[in-house]
Amino acid sequence: MTDLVEQDWVPACARSEISDGDKLEVELPNGDFVLLLGVNGKVIAVCADCPHQDTPLAEGSLIGSVLTCPVHFWQWDVESGEMLGPAELPLPSYDVREDAGQVFIRPHSVAL
Ligand code: FES
Repeated sequence: MTDLVEQDWVPACARSEISDGDKLEVELPNGDFVLLLGVNGKVIAVCADCPHQDTPLAEGSLIGSVLTCPVHFWQWDVESGEMLGPAELPLPSYDVREDAGQVFIRPHSVAL
């Protein structure tokens, strides 16, 4: 774990807090809000707010790997990064690592 922290990875939560279908919003030390998603046995991290009008995506739905915003129903496949339905903007994501029962995020988002 120490190696990851030295490489700028930030502990986000315990791995046991996220199962498939779960959504968990966390705040990183830099003030970014990140939404952790349980998808097909792994954890995926995306920007917590919709790129359309900043709606909290934790209020949306996650079915399989498809995340849907609750307001205008933009959708993304968070595994592939594909925009679905009416989505017009990509959803930023974060690198995720797991170590010693902990989920770590590198706090530099990139477009999916
Ligand atoms: S606010 Fe999310 S799709 Fe419009």
